[in-house]
Amino acid sequence: MPEHTASILIPAPVKMTPRPGKHQVRNLTSFSVSPEFNTVVPELQRLFKALAMPVESVSGAADIELKKGPLPSGAWQIKITPEKITIEAGERTGAGYAANALAQMLFAATAKGHPEDALDCAEIEDAPRYPWRGFMLDSARQFQDKDFIKKFLRTLSAFRINSFHWHLVDSQGWRYPSKIAAKLGPEGSWSFGQYSREDLQEISQCARELGIRIIPEVDVPGHSSFLLEHYPEYTCDPAGKCNEFCLGKTGSMKMIQELLAELMAIFPDSPIIHIGGDEANSAHWEKCPDCNAALKAKNLSNMRELENDFMVELAHFVLSKGRTPMIWGPGIEQVYPPETVIQSWLNFRDNLRFHKHGNKVIHSVHTSLYFDYPASLNEYWESWMMELSEQGVYMTDPYCMWYEELKNTILGLEACLWTETAPQHRIMSKLFPRIFAYAESAWSSEENKNWNDYLRRKGKLEATGYLDFIRDI
Ligand code: ACM
Ligand code: ZN
Repeated sequence: MPEHTASILIPAPVKMTPRPGKHQVRNLTSFSVSPEFNTVVPELQRLFKALAMPVESVSGAADIELKKGPLPSGAWQIKITPEKITIEAGERTGAGYAANALAQMLFAATAKGHPEDALDCAEIEDAPRYPWRGFMLDSARQFQDKDFIKKFLRTLSAFRINSFHWHLVDSQGWRYPSKIAAKLGPEGSWSFGQYSREDLQEISQCARELGIRIIPEVDVPGHSSFLLEHYPEYTCDPAGKCNEFCLGKTGSMKMIQELLAELMAIFPDSPIIHIGGDEANSAHWEKCPDCNAALKAKNLSNMRELENDFMVELAHFVLSKGRTPMIWGPGIEQVYPPETVIQSWLNFRDNLRFHKHGNKVIHSVHTSLYFDYPASLNEYWESWMMELSEQGVYMTDPYCMWYEELKNTILGLEACLWTETAPQHRIMSKLFPRIFAYAESAWSSEENKNWNDYLRRKGKLEATGYLDFIRDI
């Protein structure tokens, strides 16, 4: 007997109750959505087109009706009866997740070889485990074109990922046109390209329609040699080569604040702005008269404290503009404004360090969630990387580490794809199939996760051609 057509969902839902009867897929000709969910219409149209199903958008009564209901953020329900398919969601994001879940079931129901061409009746209830399900893409080391970014966003949305953290600048390139740093063009150290303002608007529009928020990043004071080669006046040693902004020259803070203000204007919908804070080397600061003068004037005892002071000032600046600052978890305990979101990438200790200061933490620990790491050591990899298998991603669970108080500091997960070894044409092979495992780790509760059952469901979806569809989405 074929398996129930709702028992293939990835990520696994909170609850699936089989009901008697079947809904004939051939009878589906129309769908309607409540006006609040209008932006889901193109998504549903795209899905039906991929399924070669002539299901048209109508208003009012339809074979598939998507309605607003009293459900929390991201949650959705689907009720399949022999007569009708009813979808309920509390907001736009949940409606999109339900549309994608329905598409997975339709793929299974109409797969070649499936005898019935019917959905088994069921009631499905679902809601996310974590409110933050993120993915970071590094477009600085290797540039990806506009159409690729839009495709990447559509792929993320199919896996219910709701935050696109965009690493737009680094020592190898500057990928948006800045009037503040107007000398920075599309020439990068490793690849060529820069998004135009129109590209960025189009990408923002695409993200908005998919219910994904963009978190743009300008990483300072380190990882900045691309900018500083063009603007050496902001380094400790204008005659030398520096990766870091000088922390003592007043021009540095002014320049960076202007850059951040400009970034916020380019991304008016982005509630969260990432200010970097990653891996700065203090060697130039130690020798710099301006940095040493600032250290003395602020009565601080070392350059890490001065760096912290610098980042705290930037965090307050972002807050003063009505946005929330986000920062890579530093190597040592630091005190940022409590609103600052800490992205924990190095180890699990950030929750211990930051909960007492009121900060929330995103779990991005590299050994579990760095998608640039090879899925197997047969792939090309760099010396700093470890193997990160699909099962390794599946086992990611920050809750397993902590007692209740620390669990409450975790906003969610974020996978990262750095591109030192991943030009555009390698990105999808880095993503698949591990993104299936990631989606379930970020969405499904512990009780609903089961590795063997996940493999069964993924195998079924693979057999339907769903992976090819999602890769080309
Ligand atoms: C990082 O991987 N250096 C944030
Ligand atoms: Zn300096």
